[in-house]
Amino acid sequence: MSFNTYAQTASDAAGGSRYIEIFDTTLRDGEQTPGISFTNEQKMRIALQLDRLGVDVIEAGFPVSAPEEKDIVRNICKSGLNAKVCGLARVLTDDIDACIECGVDIVHIFVSTSEIQRKYTTKMSDEQVKDVTYEMVRYVKEHGCQCMFSAMDATRTELEFLIDVFRVAEEAGADILNIPDTVGISEPFSMFKLVSAVHDSVKVPLSVHCHNDFGLAVANSLAAVKAGVSQVQVTVNGIGERAGNADLSETVMSLVSIYRFRTGIKTELLFETAKLVERFTGIHIPANKPIVGENAFSHESGIHAHGVLERSDTFEPGIMTPEMVGHRRRIVLGKHTGRHSIEQKLTEFGIHPTKEQLEEILSRVKKLGASGKLVTDDDLFSIAEILTEISGGEQAVKLKELAVMTGNNTLPTASLRVEVRGKDKKLSRIGVGPVDAAIKAIQDAISDELGGDVRLKDFRIEAITGGSDALAEVIVGVEHAGKIVTARGVREDIVLASVEAFINAVNRLLLMQHSAEHRS
Ligand code: KIV
Ligand code: ZN
Repeated sequence: MSFNTYAQTASDAAGGSRYIEIFDTTLRDGEQTPGISFTNEQKMRIALQLDRLGVDVIEAGFPVSAPEEKDIVRNICKSGLNAKVCGLARVLTDDIDACIECGVDIVHIFVSTSEIQRKYTTKMSDEQVKDVTYEMVRYVKEHGCQCMFSAMDATRTELEFLIDVFRVAEEAGADILNIPDTVGISEPFSMFKLVSAVHDSVKVPLSVHCHNDFGLAVANSLAAVKAGVSQVQVTVNGIGERAGNADLSETVMSLVSIYRFRTGIKTELLFETAKLVERFTGIHIPANKPIVGENAFSHESGIHAHGVLERSDTFEPGIMTPEMVGHRRRIVLGKHTGRHSIEQKLTEFGIHPTKEQLEEILSRVKKLGASGKLVTDDDLFSIAEILTEISGGEQAVKLKELAVMTGNNTLPTASLRVEVRGKDKKLSRIGVGPVDAAIKAIQDAISDELGGDVRLKDFRIEAITGGSDALAEVIVGVEHAGKIVTARGVREDIVLASVEAFINAVNRLLLMQHSAEHRS
C-alpha cells in the first residue's frame, strides 16, 4: 500500500519523466567560495567522483585565469570521462582559445546583460552586448566546440533585452542558453515566469544557474525546470560565490523523488560525494542539511523513533530513503529517547535487561542527554554494563604506548604498542596526519581479532574548551560487519582522544561479537 499521495500529485502536475541534465560547477563556481582553493590533485579526484556519480557536464574551471588552472582543465579533458567537460570564458578570444587549447567539449561564454552590471562593470551599450555575443558564439562554433551562452545577471535584466540577446546567441549557433540568477534575487514564481517567456521565444535548450543568497537556489532551479529548462547547474554541498549555488543533492532528489523527472545521477553515491567535497573544502556539512547532513535520517524522539522502527515512512518522506542516497538511518540517544529505541539498541548489542533494569537505563540515558551530552553507543553500553552486570570482562584492546611524528617535512607516522587479548603488538603506520596514522595502526593490530575491515565512518571533535591546553572531545563512528558503534574519547591531546575513542568503539564491537557468540 502506498501512502505517497503528495508525490503522485506533484509528479502528475510536473508531467512525469522528462530527462533533466545535471551540470556541475563545483570546480568552477564552487571554487569561487570565499576561502576555498582546491589543489589540482583534489580537482582531479572530484572530477572522477562527479563522473562516477553520473553528472552530464563538469565545468572544470576557467582556463585563462592561471597556468595551473589550464593544466588541470586539460588533464580532466584527457582523463576519458563520460561526462562532457566545459571551460568558462569571458567574451574574449584569449579566454576562448585557452578553453579550446585544453580540449574542452563545451566553451561556456558569459556577458553581463543587466543594466547595473553594464553601467558599472563592463560599460557596454546594448548594441555592443549583442555584437560581442554574436561574434564570440560564432568564434566558438567555428572552432568546432559546443557553445553555452550565459546572460550574466539575467534575472535583473530587462526581459525584452534579455530575449533579444538570447535570440542573437541562438542565431549565431549557441547550443544551449543559460539563465543565471547571479545575485540570487529571484523567487520561484518570478523565475517560472521569466523562464517561460524565454522558452517561448527561442528554440535552443535552456539551462539555469541559481545562487542561494535568499536560500531559494534549489526552489528557483525547480521552478525553472517546470517552466521548461532542460539542464540545471549545481554544486556539491551548494558551495559557490557568497551563499553558494543550488545544491546538487537537494536539486537531484527533489527532481527525482518529488517530481519524478529522470537524471543520470546514481543517487546512492550522493552521500560519499558530499563527504569527499566536505573533506577537500574543510567546510563542515551542517548536521541538519537535507539529504547528506548527519541528522537527515536520524531520530531521537521516542514517538518518532518508535514509529520509524515499526515502519520507516511514518516519520520519513518514504519517497526518499537513506539507502537511496547512500546515507544511513540512525536512532540517536538523548533526552527525548524512548524505551523502544533503548531496547532495540541493547538487543542489537546482545544485552537483554529486565523491565526494571530497562527503566533505570532509560532514566540514566535521558539524564545524560539532558545535560547537553551526545549519548554514544559506548555510553549506553557502559550504563547497561553496570546495571545488568553483563561481563565484558577486561577491555580486550588496551593502548600501552603511542608516539607520533609529524611536521612540514615529515611523513606523519604513528608507532604504538597495544595489548590485544593479552598479546603485545607493536606497529608503525604512515597516514595523512598523525590521527590517521594512529588509527591505521590500530586497525591493523585488531583486524585478526575482529575479522574483516574495521572502518572509521565518522570522526568529529565535539568540544574543545579554550586555550592550547584545553580538553578535546572526539566522537567516532566505527563500522564492522554492517554494525556501527559510536564512542568518545576525552583528552588534552587530540591524537590521544581520537585513539581512545577508536579503541573504545573497537572494544564495544568485540563485546557485541562476544555476546552474540554466547547466545548462539
Ligand atoms: O553567477 C553567474 O552569473 C555565473 C556565470 C559565469 C554563469 O557564475
Ligand atoms: Zn555563478
